[in-house]
Amino acid sequence: MKALIPAAGYGTRFFPATKCVPKELLPVGNKPAIQWIVEEAIEAGAEEVVIVTSPEKQILRDYFSESSLWHTRLAKKEEAMRELTRVEELSRKIRFVDQLEQRGLGHAVLQAASLLRDEKDPVLILLGDALVGGHPSASAEMAALSLRCANASVVGLELVPEEKVSRYGIIAGVPSAEDGRTFGITDIVEKPKREEAPSNLAVAGRYLLSPRIFELLETQRPGVGGEIQLTDAIQKLLGLEPVYGYLYPGKRFDIGNPEGYLICLQEFAPRTVQ
Ligand code: G1P
Repeated sequence: MKALIPAAGYGTRFFPATKCVPKELLPVGNKPAIQWIVEEAIEAGAEEVVIVTSPEKQILRDYFSESSLWHTRLAKKEEAMRELTRVEELSRKIRFVDQLEQRGLGHAVLQAASLLRDEKDPVLILLGDALVGGHPSASAEMAALSLRCANASVVGLELVPEEKVSRYGIIAGVPSAEDGRTFGITDIVEKPKREEAPSNLAVAGRYLLSPRIFELLETQRPGVGGEIQLTDAIQKLLGLEPVYGYLYPGKRFDIGNPEGYLICLQEFAPRTVQ
């Protein structure tokens, strides 16, 4: 399995903290937010992670690269050296591609098409501004569900209050297992009006999608907000292949804004700070 992390956004909801530091590098405990996400992907079985970023975020590439300077500096600091080695191990599994224009999530995903469209297995997509708690991780559980369902696509879900449905992708689905967490998706719509939403089951930052999604995105017209929406391409995928929804039990933290970031710190940081 391969993974993709869209991480090209400018982080305007977190300005001015993001004026020089990309939001993906803001610390959560002793490591940057994006490292938690890369680790989730790799622990769920991804052998390679493609990060879609912007040329302005060179520092993201610097973080995931080898550094002889740091090797010299940390020669006698065993614990820090272990962390450096860990980052470098992850770096060897990461490739970067650029998104030159901000034209929506679907457009960001499309930038990785040349690297991922020939995959046989579904591609794990993890949004760069969402950290998800829980063990096993949402990604690991979705990968296991996909395997049980003949390698089908799986969309991670959460229940949201009715007054917030217009902020999310929302699905219509039929429960397909007794666990109450698995749904056969019959429809999906991006940011519907409250009165038009088919449910309050929201798309929540994690996807495992058939590589066919890239072909569908190539011809995807702009949707809500004039942006190329991943949700609209998934809507087309529904007509071609089964797509499941999985209401993962872990809590999702939107770390793209100061409030969500603060709540996330309380949950994640204690795992690394002694
Ligand atoms: C994106 C997706 C949306 C999803 C949301 C949370 O929206 O387009 O379908 O529900 O992430 O994962 P955004 O938050 O970028 O507006």
